[in-house]
Amino acid sequence: MLQTTGLGVKGAGVTGLEVRGLHVRYRVPAGLGRKPSYVDAVNGADLSVAAGSSLGVVGESGCGKSSLARAICGIGPITSGSVSVGGVELTRRRDRAAARRVQMVFQDPTSSLNPRRTIGSMLRELLTVHGLRTGAAVDRRAAELLELVGLPASALGDRPHAFSGGQRQRIGIARALALEPEVLMADEAVSALDVSTQAVVVDLLHTLRAELGLSLVFISHDLGVVRAVCDSVAVMYLGTIVEQGPTEMLFESPRHPYTRALLDAVPRIDVVRPPGSARLSGEPPSPLDVPTGCPFHPRCPVAVARCRTEQPVPVEIDGQTVSCHLWPHGS
Ligand SMILES: Nc1ncnc2c1ncn2[C@@H]1O[C@H](COP(=O)(O)OP(=O)(O)OP(=O)(O)O)[C@@H](O)[C@H]1O
Ligand SMILES: [Mg+2]
Repeated sequence: MLQTTGLGVKGAGVTGLEVRGLHVRYRVPAGLGRKPSYVDAVNGADLSVAAGSSLGVVGESGCGKSSLARAICGIGPITSGSVSVGGVELTRRRDRAAARRVQMVFQDPTSSLNPRRTIGSMLRELLTVHGLRTGAAVDRRAAELLELVGLPASALGDRPHAFSGGQRQRIGIARALALEPEVLMADEAVSALDVSTQAVVVDLLHTLRAELGLSLVFISHDLGVVRAVCDSVAVMYLGTIVEQGPTEMLFESPRHPYTRALLDAVPRIDVVRPPGSARLSGEPPSPLDVPTGCPFHPRCPVAVARCRTEQPVPVEIDGQTVSCHLWPHGS
C-alpha cells in the first residue's frame, strides 16, 4: 500500500517506473518537394526504474531522448505502449492525481518561472490547486520544499530574478517535488549550468532520489556524469534502445557497437587510442529515412549482411540487454 510521507511517496510494493513497448510517432507535414511523412522518435522502448534508483538515458542529439521523457511525463504524445508508475497504468487515463506521479525537471527553469510571481506564491498555488495542503500547512510545506532543495525558507518572498541559474534549477526541482511524484524525469536538467553548479545540482537530484525513494530518469549528453550517478543506463540510437544494463557493466563491457563507439568518442587524456579503434563517423541518418534492418548498420564497423535487412531483437546477457545480431555470439 502506498504511503504519503509528506516528502514524497514511499511504501512497500512500490515498483517504480515501468515502460513497455513505447512508440512515439510524429507526423511531419509536407514541405518543399517532400510528401507528408512520419518520424518514429521512439520505437518500442522497454524500461524499468525501481523506486529509489536512477536510469541514465544517453545517445546522440535527435535520437529520441526528450520524446521518450515527454511521453512518460504525459506532456508529449504516445502512439502506443504503456507507462505505469507504482503498478498503476497511466497511458489510458491520466487524471490530475495520476499525472502528479511523474514530474519533469526542465533544462531551462527560467522560461517556466513567472518573473512577476514570488516563489512562495507559485509553490502555494501548486499545493492548493492540487489539494495537497490546506490552511497553515500550505505555508509550512512551501518552506519545507525550499529547504529540501537547499534554499532558505526566507527565499519564499523573492521573485525568480533574485536567484542564480543553479538556485533557479533548485526551485524547478522544488516545484516538481511539490506534487509528490514517484518518478522524476530530468531532461538535460543541468546542461545549461556551469560545471561546478552542475555537480551540486546533480548531487542534489541523487540525494533526493535516495531520500524520497524516487525513480529518477536522468537524460544527459555527459557520459561521465551518468557513469558517476546512475544505477543503470539505456543507450538510444535513432529512436531505439540498443543497449541497456547496470552502469558499471555497460561502461566496462559495452556490447553494442554503437555503445562502444559512443564511449570511445569521449575524450580521455589517460588513454592512448590504438590506431583503427572504433570512432563514430558522420551524423546519424535522417529520422525521416531510418535504414532498414539495424538502424546503426550504415555506421557500424562490424555490420554483416543480415544487419542490412533484419532488425535485431533485444537479447539479455548477464543482466545487460543488447539489440545486435552479433549477440549472443558476439565478443
Ligand atoms: N513535435 C515534433 N514533431 C515532429 N518531429 C519531432 C517533434 N519533436 C521531435 N521531433 C523529431 O523527433 C526526433 C527525436 O527528437 P528528440 O527531441 O526526442 O531528440 P533528443 O534525443 O532529445 O535530442 P537532443 O539531444 O538534441 O535533445 C528528432 O528527429 C526530432 O526532429
Ligand atoms: Mg532532447
